[in-house]
Amino acid sequence: EEETIILAFESSCDETSVALVKNGAEVLAQSTATQIKSHQRFGGVVPEVASRHHIEQIIGCLDDVFQASGLSYADLSAVAVTYGPGLVGALLVGLSAAKAVAFAHNLPLVPVNHMAGHIYAARYTAPLQFPALALLVSGGHTELVYLEKENDFKIIGETRDDACGEAFDKIGRVLGINYPAGKAVDELARRGKDTFHFPRAMEKEDNYDFSFSGLKSAFINTVHHADQVHEELSSADLAASFQQSVIDVLAQKTVRALHNYPVNQLILAGGVAANSGLRARLNEEIAAFPQVDLVKAPLQYCGDNAAMIGAAGYVAFKHATFGDLSLNADPSLEF
Ligand code: KG4
Ligand code: ZN
Repeated sequence: EEETIILAFESSCDETSVALVKNGAEVLAQSTATQIKSHQRFGGVVPEVASRHHIEQIIGCLDDVFQASGLSYADLSAVAVTYGPGLVGALLVGLSAAKAVAFAHNLPLVPVNHMAGHIYAARYTAPLQFPALALLVSGGHTELVYLEKENDFKIIGETRDDACGEAFDKIGRVLGINYPAGKAVDELARRGKDTFHFPRAMEKEDNYDFSFSGLKSAFINTVHHADQVHEELSSADLAASFQQSVIDVLAQKTVRALHNYPVNQLILAGGVAANSGLRARLNEEIAAFPQVDLVKAPLQYCGDNAAMIGAAGYVAFKHATFGDLSLNADPSLEF
């Protein structure tokens, strides 16, 4: 059987990542340089700072993957790259590197949508089977995506305001947790209980949409009120209450979609897919759908990484989806 080896680049936000991926399902090498420390004192990602870091890091990451794998450019079948959505200056760094390699080594260039990348990270858990439903939860997106077949994405529901990861980061800040706060809030929540019963937005509405801004406000009001009356609240209970509200609405809308869309798989992907409470809850919910397999992206490929771009790039390569040297970054790219 023929081997397809793809060199993949990801630089849409605050991780510079390069990977070598075989047949879209095996990571031969990956090198990721995170710049989170540089953004923490600003409480979020500063676009100009992000672009500069990508420029400084990307060649080192590229050298790393060839060194670690022992492969050379002659072994490659194609170069895949994230071209959106994301920060335009950040995207352009990965795009320029990918184009340079493709041009110099006469390789096909495969444009990859970052969000498709998140979904195809699930290929590292199991081969995907369609039709499938994906719960895609990241720092910038919260969507239920129906995939009737491979490379066919239809958003059936999405957030009306904040993304779910964004809500984690904002309430984390109120708790004094550094950006990005999701992982620390998750750990804190494990030591607390849902004692505050924050609102579950749009729970009763007959759609697949989400809203997290009301929950965020309720959280902030609760903490500010306690400050004013000098009342000490349990951070663990606050975190657990917030997280339970998020998980309840994510699970509820996902289950509603599973009732109305007969699928073979439910895919959980995106940065927030690393949440331990969410993973456990979907494990429970899926028991009511014996015909549906739950495929969770592996923990190490939930957050931004180039391996997922290599997986999605492989699928796009098989569908002969190619770009040329005029390929541009698209900061608000949609499916
Ligand atoms: O997918 P991702 O790495 O970047 C985007 O494309 O946005 O997602 C990052 C988001 C951040 O908001 C981060 O706080 C959140 O994922 N996150 C988590 C967890 N780990 C990361 N949220 C909840 N629980 C976690 N364990
Ligand atoms: Zn992402």
